[in-house]
Amino acid sequence: MKAAPRVREIPFSALGGVFDEDDIGAALGVLRRAAAPGGNFFPLPEESDFQRAFAAHEGAAHAVAVNSCGTALDLCLMALGIGPGDEVITTPLTFVCTATCVIARGAKVVFADVDPRTLCLDPHDVRRRITNRTKAILPVHFTGLAADCDAFDAIASQTGVPIIYDAAHAVGTLYRGAAVGGRGLASCYSFQSNKNMTTLGEGGAVTTDDADFAEIVRRKKTFGYVYGPTLQVATVGFNYRMTKPQCAVGITQLAKIDGVIANRLAVFQTVHELLADMPGIIRPSGIEAGHGCHLYVVRLDTDRVSVDRAAFLKTLKDDYGVSCGVHYPAVWTWDVMRGLGYSAESAACPVAAKASEQVISLPLFPHTTQEDCSYIVWGLGEAIHQAGRPARAGLS
Ligand SMILES: Cc1ncc(COP(=O)(O)O)c(C=O)c1O
Repeated sequence: MKAAPRVREIPFSALGGVFDEDDIGAALGVLRRAAAPGGNFFPLPEESDFQRAFAAHEGAAHAVAVNSCGTALDLCLMALGIGPGDEVITTPLTFVCTATCVIARGAKVVFADVDPRTLCLDPHDVRRRITNRTKAILPVHFTGLAADCDAFDAIASQTGVPIIYDAAHAVGTLYRGAAVGGRGLASCYSFQSNKNMTTLGEGGAVTTDDADFAEIVRRKKTFGYVYGPTLQVATVGFNYRMTKPQCAVGITQLAKIDGVIANRLAVFQTVHELLADMPGIIRPSGIEAGHGCHLYVVRLDTDRVSVDRAAFLKTLKDDYGVSCGVHYPAVWTWDVMRGLGYSAESAACPVAAKASEQVISLPLFPHTTQEDCSYIVWGLGEAIHQAGRPARAGLS
């Protein structure tokens, strides 16, 4: 019999990308130029260079760099003029801000269910929930797997409701072989620390093919400024700008992003194969070229194995040193949403409700070794064995 491996610590906290000397050099270069005589942090040639490079990488005509994906979402909803009395449809299986950006506008979140195979927003269920108050649809490219962009295009052209993608996980994601940044009216990306690329820990971008929409977002991110022979303020705006060192690092991050995603894909595929026959685990779909490979999310197969997720995660961490994440508890479980009357009952999204209690994100990063992949899968098997028992007689 093979000996059990020595217990090791596998944290869920590594950088999602690769941050190295190129990035440090780019940031230092900006700082040194700003410190030199006559230097300044303005103007920002790095901003337009980064925006051009990012738009090209994500297949969009325009990119507007901002300070987070959360603010990118805010800007898009503000640009659409969404407000009280309006409804916005989104998935319950997402980070809280995909929904709270709607609340912040005074509008109502309408949840639609997810596709049981991909866990992305289900366009068929979205159609059922559209009313004459629906002002936007916010699908998420969940984990880096593209949402069904063609189906959402069809909804937009038949109903006139714009699609704004939450592309926080989707740097490098492809849909039918093409980057997704130009799909829908706009897409909102994140460069926060554990995403596939990062602009010094925080950052985001709005991408779009629509020049007018890009211009509204651009104005709103800088106080509503309209630049010209004389500066004008045309609309209510904010300061949601990305800093110059961040933009410089965005350029060096982008130069290596394809390699980072290829590494992540290799790690995901290794684990995917190792998990092929593991009882009690449902593997994610779409782990192939084109997946952004931000998160590898398995589900506990609670129809076959009765296992409490919290106890299982505790065993995995305490006994085997493997820390996992949960992406995501359904949005209606957060106090802020409950306080506003949102609930599993009112949302009526049974697939998302069930998945949200089953999902587990494995600690896989671009530098995860083959040995650590095997170890994580071994720990998972042991913890299932310890914490689980057949859910119904006759099932193993
Ligand atoms: C799906 C999703 N949307 C939005 C965000 C917010 O991104 P940021 O931290 O850049 O505001 C996140 C962050 O993790 C996310 O996972």
